Amino acid sequence: MSTKTNDAIRSSVSNAYAKAVSRAVRECGCCTTMEADSAENQTANKYYNDHDLTRLPEDAIRHSLGCGNPLAYVDVKEGDVVLDLGSGAGIDILLAAERVGPSGRVIGIDMTDEMLAKAQENIEQSGFNNVQVRKGLIEDMPIENDSIDWVISNCVINLSPEKDRVFGEIARVLKPGGKMLVSDIVVENLPQALRNNDFLYCGCVAGAIREAAYIAGLQDAGLTNVVVKQRVLYDSQSIEQAVERELEAMTEQSSDCCGSQDSIEAHELAELVVGGIWSCQFSAKKV
Ligand SMILES: C[S@@+](CC[C@H](N)C(=O)[O-])C[C@H]1O[C@@H](n2cnc3c(N)ncnc32)[C@H](O)[C@@H]1O
Repeated sequence: MSTKTNDAIRSSVSNAYAKAVSRAVRECGCCTTMEADSAENQTANKYYNDHDLTRLPEDAIRHSLGCGNPLAYVDVKEGDVVLDLGSGAGIDILLAAERVGPSGRVIGIDMTDEMLAKAQENIEQSGFNNVQVRKGLIEDMPIENDSIDWVISNCVINLSPEKDRVFGEIARVLKPGGKMLVSDIVVENLPQALRNNDFLYCGCVAGAIREAAYIAGLQDAGLTNVVVKQRVLYDSQSIEQAVERELEAMTEQSSDCCGSQDSIEAHELAELVVGGIWSCQFSAKKV
């Protein structure tokens, strides 16, 4: 990915997620590289409780591609304005819509038309009228300055080739006193050869940065109280199984998932990254 322009990277990522959400049964996971995605063990089941899952449209659950549950760590209140970066099929915006109530508002941003359409279907099915999705880039958010109480995001910023712009945008759109809770993947010491792997980029591995760099990026953007609320380490078995599942799905397809498939063995990857890849819940505040 490193030889591509930033727009070309976003285009590959968007194509991957358009395909992922367009399949009735998800075959091309992306951000599921480390996440279970079989029907019996959907990503959502790992992070959301039964109470949440029974109230959501089935499609919002099936197409959930996150690596955490941002709302589990925040005290979003009735009347708040919540912004979800890379809202996908809508799982977190729907849960937020319930939390903020009729006096609050929820906005999801996504760059992928197919994801926006799926989220819109799920919004209509859920019956909430305090939530909307907008097409746009998280690097250039279609959102007014100082207008948001809570920014949330679930497994998206790792996909941005311009993370500092994203961090700056979070600082711009938050109200003074507003807060952020982002679930994301971080990777320590990923070999450069793997950083250039399209499949791993769209799968939320190759674009992920170190935890310390993430924290520094948020601080440099002017955010304060930057804290990691939780870390979940991926073990060797989960890395290997997930990559095998992805590779199998991709080789079954005649079309590609995230551009050309660079050859990579699942056990090789697991050996290289085990101990150095985890999901984090980052929180921060704008003073
Ligand atoms: C891994 S999925 C996560 C979706 C959702 N947050 C969830 O938990 O299910 C990543 C989503 O982010 C969107 N996305 C990735 N990069 C983006 C960018 N630079 N600007 C806007 N949306 C982006 C993709 O289109 C996709 O819907």
